[in-house]
Amino acid sequence: MTQEQFEEGVLYAEDNFRNDNAPHLAIDKKLIREKFDLNGKKILDFGCGMGGMSLWYADNWDCEVYGLDIDGHHIKISKTLQEKLGIKNVTFEKRNILDTPLSEDEKFDYVFLNDVAEHIQFPILERIFKQLSTCLAEGGRIFVTYPPWKSPYASHVTHVVKIPWCQYLPKKMIHNLIEKNNIQIVGEEESDLLEAYYGLNHLTHNKLIDVLKTSGLSPVYRKSHCILNRLPGLKNTNINFFPFDFLVTKEFLLLQNSNN
Ligand SMILES: C[S@@+](CC[C@H](N)C(=O)[O-])C[C@H]1O[C@@H](n2cnc3c(N)ncnc32)[C@H](O)[C@@H]1O
Repeated sequence: MTQEQFEEGVLYAEDNFRNDNAPHLAIDKKLIREKFDLNGKKILDFGCGMGGMSLWYADNWDCEVYGLDIDGHHIKISKTLQEKLGIKNVTFEKRNILDTPLSEDEKFDYVFLNDVAEHIQFPILERIFKQLSTCLAEGGRIFVTYPPWKSPYASHVTHVVKIPWCQYLPKKMIHNLIEKNNIQIVGEEESDLLEAYYGLNHLTHNKLIDVLKTSGLSPVYRKSHCILNRLPGLKNTNINFFPFDFLVTKEFLLLQNSNN
């Protein structure tokens, strides 16, 4: 990671922290404010990235946050921003929980995965959810948010390719388009857009439910945020059926242990 990338990363993370309309987090922040009271809670921000959301939880509620990520560059940026903001109630750590599992003492009231699940291959994701189910405190919940694969922005490269739903272009064509517009990103694990694109698992609601089968977790709430929710009377309706499912930009799923 160059110094310039590092500095850009800190600025990006700070925008995610400060800006309630930050592009991929606006609906997440709105829903979390509406639906969750995090006061007094222990929170795991799984795949915290550059830390903007972990710091946002810590600043908006009287809670204790643990932000972990597999990517060392992201954690370095998180720690730098934490120091800059002077927020104390967050601990950031580079950690792969499949190598260093969460222990009996690490229990959380809420686990958040904001835009993380679509980046992890299914056999690994299945093992991660199995483990996360065991780290929930009594009555604990896991909140998973992601752009479903049919979404106009699911490719994670629309900002450079400038074509919504470009994941449906012929393979060779999308590859060439990304290659032509490719940019370096700060990740230690994924360092450019082509790598990031091929790292996606094409997640959908049904695939996620399938992944969760062995975890003992079950859904208690689902929201499919669709462009049509802007129409009068449709604000709270889940319009996630064909062909309108192509207009769903973000899925939200709240999970709890089935034996709760
Ligand atoms: C798109 S970023 C989202 C970051 C952050 N949650 C946010 O919303 O800004 C996805 C993050 O998941 C992390 N990640 C991917 N696989 C992971 C794993 N197995 N364990 C922990 N973090 C992982 C990546 O390193 C990356 O930081």
